[in-house]
Parts: sequence; C-alpha cells; structure tokens
Amino acid sequence: MVQPMETNCGTIIADPVPDHPLLNGRQEIGRGENTIVLDGDVVDGQERVFKVLSSPTDYAYYTAPDRPTGHHFPVVYADHGTAGRSSRGFPFHIVEVEKLYPLPGGGDAADVATKISTSYFDACLMWRNLAQDMGRIALHHLVVTPMGWTDTVKDSLKALEDFSSEYGALPDLIKADNLMMRKDGTLVFSDPVFME
Ligand SMILES: Nc1ncnc2c1ncn2[C@@H]1O[C@H](COP(=O)(O)OP(=O)(O)O)[C@@H](O)[C@H]1O
Ligand SMILES: [Mg+2]
Repeated sequence: MVQPMETNCGTIIADPVPDHPLLNGRQEIGRGENTIVLDGDVVDGQERVFKVLSSPTDYAYYTAPDRPTGHHFPVVYADHGTAGRSSRGFPFHIVEVEKLYPLPGGGDAADVATKISTSYFDACLMWRNLAQDMGRIALHHLVVTPMGWTDTVKDSLKALEDFSSEYGALPDLIKADNLMMRKDGTLVFSDPVFME
C-alpha cells in the first residue's frame, strides 16, 4: 500500500484515533487534513460529536476565550484536554461540539455557502500578488464590499477576519466541506481557518 505523504497540505490525516476513554468504541464520521471526527452522544436532544484536533489554530478556533461565537459558529460543549501526539507534530486535543451536517445540493444555506466560497476565491485572485496576506485581505474584501450578505453572515465574516488576524490564521473558505449546517438549515462555519 502506498503511504500518504506526511505533509500538511491536502493530505487527509492518517493517524489512528488516539487511545482515550472518551473516544474508544465511537464511530468515526469524518476526517480531514488535521481533524478526526467521532460521533458523540445526544444530550438534552442535542447531537454532539468529538473533534480530535491536531492543529493549534483549529484548537484556538474552538476554545479561545475570544473565539468567534454567534448564529453561524459551532456550539462548543467541552474541552476534554489532550490525547497523545499527532503525526502533525502537535498534541491531539479533544473538543466536544454540536453535530453538523453536510450542505445539501441546494437551498438557502448551500446558496450562501457557494456565494461565500466563490466570492472569496475571486477576491483571492484579485489580491494574489499579496502572497501570504492574500487570504486575509480577500476575507476583508468580503466584509467591506456590499455583496448582499445578511447581517448575521456579514458579522460572522468580520468575526472570522478578527480571529484570523489575532491568531495568525488563514481563511479556508474555498473547500465546500468546511461549511456545514444545522438540522434547522443554519449555515455554520465548521472549519473556516488553517495554520499559517
Ligand atoms: N461538527 C461536525 N459534525 C459532524 N461532522 C463534522 C463536524 N465537523 C466536521 N465534520 C466532518 O469531518 C470532516 C473533517 O472535519 P474538519 O473540521 O473540516 O477537519 P480538517 O481541519 O481536518 O479539515 C468534515 O469535512 C466533515 O465531513
Ligand atoms: Mg476541513
């Protein structure tokens, strides 16, 4: 079998789920470049998942005191500490968050998500000569340019911009699976940033 390259760029993390009493026996429902997602419990009618995070930026996004919160941001229930070390070179952090769902092919949330991704991509092309700062400037462009966002979407984009500047994170708004939704149809920024 060909082993995936150990880079942080476009490769799904290949680590096994770390051994931890909270994680053992749970079903894996998602995996990305830096994160393993396991199905959690239903508490007071709310479905939860465990995100096993290997990126300090993702950990800050979910747990920092000044992390973005509000209508379009994931609800975080608990920070369960660390579980071993990931092949990315950082400890795994276990964070319990609300369960979200992939965006469907159409509908309001999907339409807004498509508009965010395409406008962000276009702005990146516009500002591509700025190299390292391109993503953050492109996000700023989305915040300050009238594009017909609802107030809650515009506030969320601004909150993401502030978080990115504060934590040296880069926006990751092009990949469709970083935007998800609640069962009630609310668009949620589930994984909108990555590490510089
Ligand atoms: N809160 C969640 N509820 C259910 N599935 C999720 C949740 N967050 C992420 N996922 C799934 O797990 C995958 C990887 O999660 P993501 O946060 O995007 O990780 P990465 O930082 O590795 O890209 C996502 O593409 C999605 O399918
Ligand atoms: Mg992702």
